Amino acid sequence: MQLSRRTFLTGFTAAAAVPGLFADPQPRLDPNLTVLLSDIHVNGLDGGDKYPRGKLARVINDILAMAPLPAHAILFGDIAWLHGRREDYLASAPEFKRLSDAGIKITWGMGNHDRRSTFLEVHPDCAQATKIPGRLVTVTEAGPIDFIMLDGLQGTDDRGLTDMGPGNGKLCKDQQDWLLAELPKWKKPVFVCSHFPVGELSVGNQKLARFLHACPAVAGYLHGHDHRWYKNLPIESWSSPHVLRTLCLPSTGYWGDIGYVTLRVAGDRAVAALHEYEYYFPKPKEELKQLREEDEQLWKAICDENRLATCTFHLPRP
Ligand SMILES: [Fe+2]
Repeated sequence: MQLSRRTFLTGFTAAAAVPGLFADPQPRLDPNLTVLLSDIHVNGLDGGDKYPRGKLARVINDILAMAPLPAHAILFGDIAWLHGRREDYLASAPEFKRLSDAGIKITWGMGNHDRRSTFLEVHPDCAQATKIPGRLVTVTEAGPIDFIMLDGLQGTDDRGLTDMGPGNGKLCKDQQDWLLAELPKWKKPVFVCSHFPVGELSVGNQKLARFLHACPAVAGYLHGHDHRWYKNLPIESWSSPHVLRTLCLPSTGYWGDIGYVTLRVAGDRAVAALHEYEYYFPKPKEELKQLREEDEQLWKAICDENRLATCTFHLPRP
């Protein structure tokens, strides 16, 4: 039977009027799912460590295979290899573009190996999002939760090309003042994020952990820098049952725990889940001249222990 153009169009119109008939069976992007990536360390120049680029591609491939996709990707800094070179940012940009092309919104954080001005030359749109001029401090709304990305990078933008700058983090005065004014009155559960462990940072005349304890909307503190999956519960007061949970993220491919983390919100909690591919230090086996069998076995044991590890955060009701 041949359908006339008119019969076909009439049938199409009738089918389109049936609710849900042509609807996507599941949404393409899940607002309750976020991926957390840290310590990317892609090297854009010949002669350096090339393997982090391939390891990053593996992470991106696996994220893009998710169904539905995470609505957000939060990057916790050390995007560059060691010195914040333009070539490094140019080398990793196509991989991250694959995420944004898929509709995944990227939040960028700065690590001690980054160089803010060079990063912004390659990713100029990020400059508009910052809350603090001269730093990269952003607020990301991700469904029922928010993320605040702090910028603890101390290294000045005019340092020499081979100068890695200070390894520790520090929040500038403007950033501290903004946090002190805004965070105590935050209305949604919020994860405070930075490249650096919470113990390195202060606000006003107090440690950052003590301040976060006192802010009712804070669900937890997330960071990178140490290239390992580990949880911590910094104690700030023996008289309070309130617990601040912190989580350190793996590297996507340089050294240490290698992988990425998903953060899924369901009801009154958010669960971080580790997806670990491998563990190595200081480099993968194929990059080392020799490797003792017992070291390789320990690497495997560390990875096996971490596989499917989770960390649960309860979402406060500020
Ligand atoms: Fe790093």
